Amino acid sequence: YFDPEFSAALITWQKQHGRHSLPWQNTSDAYRVWLSEIMLQQTQVTAVIPYYLRFLENFPTVHDLAAAPVEEVMALWAGLGYYTRARNLHQCAKQVVEKYQGIFPSDPQLLQALPGIGRSTAAAVAAFSYGTVAAILDGNVKRVFARVFGINAYPGLKPVEDDLWLRAEALLPKAGIAAYTQGLMDLGATLCTRSKPDCLRCPFQQRCVAFAEGRTAELPVRKPK
Ligand code: ADE
Repeated sequence: YFDPEFSAALITWQKQHGRHSLPWQNTSDAYRVWLSEIMLQQTQVTAVIPYYLRFLENFPTVHDLAAAPVEEVMALWAGLGYYTRARNLHQCAKQVVEKYQGIFPSDPQLLQALPGIGRSTAAAVAAFSYGTVAAILDGNVKRVFARVFGINAYPGLKPVEDDLWLRAEALLPKAGIAAYTQGLMDLGATLCTRSKPDCLRCPFQQRCVAFAEGRTAELPVRKPK
């Protein structure tokens, strides 16, 4: 699946048309990157922004978060939903302080061992904070790949997901991992949307299987019942 033109096209697009002013961008503070990625796991950007800013005012560092009573963390999370995230967030902060002296590791394998951090979140935190070259694969990225590569199977199935991870790793750039990773997220969030994708503006239009076959509405394949 190796194809250096894929990442080159995406990085160019990200620099020209991607998002550059979200509150958690333009920082390499792993604590801020991690906090944003946990909040963004199951919540839209516009809903996350005020919570993210309020969290940072109350807990400017991972030490502040780790030292806070869990009730205070839960109170600041109230309204964001998926409250397991908040409990894991607090546990994770405590572990980073105890095991790593408050410094998030740069190795995705170590990040993934922490509460609430899955494979994709670990890669995003490592890429944005430390420039570690690692693959992400969230719902948006699955949709982009399913369309560009014409994946004719439900991406939630284990063998299909395994194949998508292999593709995600093979496509990684040697340089520019932060712009590349943000580009995948931005493409999925702004152009390659679930309904009415804006294929006219897409850097992958010329190579997209779903576009060529007029099947953007059918891909990704929906969950079988
Ligand atoms: N969704 C998940 N991570 C994100 C990020 N860093 N920026 C925008 N949306 C996201």
